[in-house]
This record gives sequence, structure tokens and C-alpha cells, in this order.
Amino acid sequence: MDFITLLRRDHEKVSSLFKEIARGFGQPDAPERHDLFHRLKRELDLHAGVEDLHVYRVFQQAEVTRDDAHEAMEAHRKIKTLLDELDAASTYDHNWTAKFQELQKVVEAHVASEENEMFRKTEAIMTPHEAEELGGAVETAKEAISRHAATTEGGTPEQISV
Ligand SMILES: [Fe+2]
Ligand SMILES: [Fe+2]
Repeated sequence: MDFITLLRRDHEKVSSLFKEIARGFGQPDAPERHDLFHRLKRELDLHAGVEDLHVYRVFQQAEVTRDDAHEAMEAHRKIKTLLDELDAASTYDHNWTAKFQELQKVVEAHVASEENEMFRKTEAIMTPHEAEELGGAVETAKEAISRHAATTEGGTPEQISV
């Protein structure tokens, strides 16, 4: 499968997690929200890590996409900072909610620029076969990181995959 199809699937998964968390905002803080947030964080960390290492690396090498890749890495840094700040909070109060909404905006804008700008230039920098191969690399890297996370967290890959 080509890398764009794979990454789009992640984007959809992340988008539904954001919606699911936001649906509970009218209710008091609950352990379910923390669980959902940790799933979202794990998914975003994994996705961004694999993009940085395998996808942006390719886009960085081509003149036509170098700036897009640079911008995308900046967005990943911002997303990581917000995720870490949200993760450090013990209670998901209104301050947390406001920061969470900021994170959602940053992620949505970043995903839109990947899908509507950077990934649209794929044909200019690689063949369809290379896009398939990159998809394979993305899949393998995600599996390897998930397995490693499962070992260090003491869970199984099934438990940590979302
Ligand atoms: Fe990204
Ligand atoms: Fe992405």
C-alpha cells in the first residue's frame, strides 16, 4: 500500500479520537478521558515519529518539497510540546480543555497541509513504485515501534494498537 493511503488512515483515526474526547467536555473529568488522551498521544507520537524518519526525510531531499518538509517538522515539534504539556496535567480542567482545543487546531491545520500540499507533490519526487515501497517502510517502522512500546510498557502490541 502506498504511504499516503496509510498516513491518511492514521489521520482519520486521530480525527475520530479528537472528536471522541471533545464529546465528553460537557461532563466532569473521568478516567475514560485520560485513557482516550493517552491513546491519542501514542497514536500522534508514533505517526509523527515515522513521518519524520521515513517520509519527511525523502521530501527534504527534493528541492520542490524541502520547505514543506521543514514546515511539517516545525508543526511536529509544536504538537509534541502541546502533547507533553497536556500529558503532564493531573486534572483535565478548563485550562486543559483550552490547550487540547489548541492542539486539535494545530493538528488539523498540519494534516490539511500534508494532504493538500506536500503529499500532492509526491508524483514530482517519486514513482508510484517508490510510493508503495515507502508505504512498506512506514508499516514496518510502525510495527517495530509498537512492539518496542509494548515491551517497555508491559502490554501487548494488540493492547497498544488503536
Ligand atoms: Fe505530520
Ligand atoms: Fe501525517
